[in-house]
Amino acid sequence: MTRQYLITAALPYANGYLHLGHIAGAYLPADLYARYLRLAGEQVLFVCGSDEHGVAITIRAEQEGKTPQEIVDHYHAANREAFDQFGISFDVYGRTSSPLHHRVAQEWFLDFYRRGLLEERQQLQFYDEQAGMFLPDRYVEGTCPNCGYERARGDQCEQCGAYYDQLALKNPRSLVSGKPPALRPTTHWYFRLSQFQHALEEYIASHQDEWKENVLQQARAWLKQGLQDRAVTRDLRWGVPVPLPNTEGKVLYVWFEALLGYISATQGWACEQGDSDRWQQWWLQSSDRQTYYAAFIGKDNIVFHTLMFPAMLMARGGYILPSNVPAHEFLNLEGQKFSKSRNWSIDLRDALADFPHPHHRDALRYALAMNFPETRDADFTWGDFQARTNNELAAIVGNYANRVIAFIARHFEGKVPVLSEQDREFPARWHAVVANSSGGSSALDAEQFSAEERAMIAALARGAEAIATAYRSFRFRDATSETMNLARAANKFFNDAAPWKSLAENPAQCARTLYTCVQVLRSIAIALAPVAPHLSRSIQQLCGIAQPTTGEFSGATPGPNVWATIPQPLIEQGTLLGQPQRLIEPISDERIALQRAKLGAPAAQLAPHRERISIEEFSRIELRTGRIVSAERVPKSNKLIKLIVNLGSEERQIVAGIGKHYTPDELIGLDVVVVANLAPAQLMGVESNGMLLAANNGERLVIVSPRDEIPPGSVVR
Ligand code: 2FM
Ligand code: ZN
Repeated sequence: MTRQYLITAALPYANGYLHLGHIAGAYLPADLYARYLRLAGEQVLFVCGSDEHGVAITIRAEQEGKTPQEIVDHYHAANREAFDQFGISFDVYGRTSSPLHHRVAQEWFLDFYRRGLLEERQQLQFYDEQAGMFLPDRYVEGTCPNCGYERARGDQCEQCGAYYDQLALKNPRSLVSGKPPALRPTTHWYFRLSQFQHALEEYIASHQDEWKENVLQQARAWLKQGLQDRAVTRDLRWGVPVPLPNTEGKVLYVWFEALLGYISATQGWACEQGDSDRWQQWWLQSSDRQTYYAAFIGKDNIVFHTLMFPAMLMARGGYILPSNVPAHEFLNLEGQKFSKSRNWSIDLRDALADFPHPHHRDALRYALAMNFPETRDADFTWGDFQARTNNELAAIVGNYANRVIAFIARHFEGKVPVLSEQDREFPARWHAVVANSSGGSSALDAEQFSAEERAMIAALARGAEAIATAYRSFRFRDATSETMNLARAANKFFNDAAPWKSLAENPAQCARTLYTCVQVLRSIAIALAPVAPHLSRSIQQLCGIAQPTTGEFSGATPGPNVWATIPQPLIEQGTLLGQPQRLIEPISDERIALQRAKLGAPAAQLAPHRERISIEEFSRIELRTGRIVSAERVPKSNKLIKLIVNLGSEERQIVAGIGKHYTPDELIGLDVVVVANLAPAQLMGVESNGMLLAANNGERLVIVSPRDEIPPGSVVR
């Protein structure tokens, strides 16, 4: 029976940049798992992609003045690129706006529809008459029916966490027009989730010894409440159209179709591989194949992956179900929740830009893995990142590599030492003892191996085993710290064996020590590959390995079991090694201070950059300094202020939308920058002849003003 591993990671919404909380929640643990399994010779398919529909996207599009398609194109590409640079080794990264995904989702819907798994219901729904649209939950605000919080969202209260029906909201307001919405009848289709109550109870119970407690608890709590049928359609224009007649303006609910994104992405991958049926090998049950399916998610996605998706897969029939849903808890940042709006967040792309060296990116992977919120919420701090980079990765791993390579460069012409005649059998004995006993130290014959060698080889064998067990049971923190322990053991071996002494006293012994050290360096590089793939690659290259392996084989073909070779001496005597080098530059206090200073600072209005223009195009814009001579509010407007601005050769009337942020009094006498050749416009019936420059600092408008005294009318270039 073939065994294979299907790994999915929650499809991130293509409406924003990923932050480190997302990375620690699902993507990095999934990558560690995938890389470890590939190194262990397992057949793996690692699937992810962008979740590109739903209200989260349309809201972002409105905020940025773009179409939803432009938004998802931008964030899909950006997130994909960031994942790639961070070494997240997806085999496939799909998108739910693709025609293939639309086809797959519609086919599932129609299959359920025809087989009576969907129930058609008429219901009342909030409708914004001014905007002419039904209002999805996120477009309605009101008073929470549970706690009275006044800015509760359409279907969930941020204050008390209660979920409720939109119609239960008190004093509802449309977020589109600000008006109280009307109620209109609409038709939707509901997936008969309640029919799967029993099957899901059995499914969850069958995994109770294996799954994490936080995951089981949430799933059980939902089951205990009794599962409700769930709408799979909604009134919205951006999404997968409902494939039934007369359903204009209705799309599949994003929870339903996004989950199918894993399957459509796999289908896309199969097509690319030139065998369009090949996806079935990964998703359909079969008597000659055993698929272990691990669905990595953050904790906000638990019910979708333990209940909804399994029910859908059961309903369709013949599909495998998640074997495990190793959801993480939340990662905090410097003691507080991640929050983009408060700018208490670290976007992955910013971290990548600030730490461009691949080994520093690995250091970030390492620091995150050491702080994974596996069983409870955890905290990431820049100080911890610095300490782990400098005191662990650099001081233990980097230092060991450098000691070994430098010693060999100096005393053995940069080549793996050739063993003396009396040690000719040493590699064979080492191989034999590892092969026979998985290296338990008792099996290591005291006559054939020194005490230090015995300790080192046993540490490798035990470590490889322990790390493997930790990875297979989703204990990534343990896997990572055990990996570092191997490097600690290696430094201890170097110290205890003291080759600088044997160099003169017993050259044969010294050669044997350094021969061993190189083997151990390779072992460490392999063990490190899941968490620090770039660093692993560099160390393997230092060891003279022409084709390093870091667990990136594609799902198409399983590679050899490299993990099993960790305790073995595989580098030939005489192999030319790399040059001594500092593998990991320590991170300075200044760089850390800079990162800390970014947190909580008011966010600049990060509108995406515009298309480039030529200097000629720019020179058509006439910018001049001006001095405000008088200012008064435009009647009946709280936003507009009428200004008279001295432009040197003339005085201009300019109407500016700054009335909420400045009083007329504080404006008089202020030097400003004016677009002087703007065509005149009428604002609330008042003529405006130019525009002054201002920027939004995240809270308010700030007028751009020359720093030093300058005559009015000076050209700004
Ligand atoms: O939480 C999220 O980012 C969702 N986009 C996850 C969807 S997981 C699955 F449905 F694809
Ligand atoms: Zn509430």
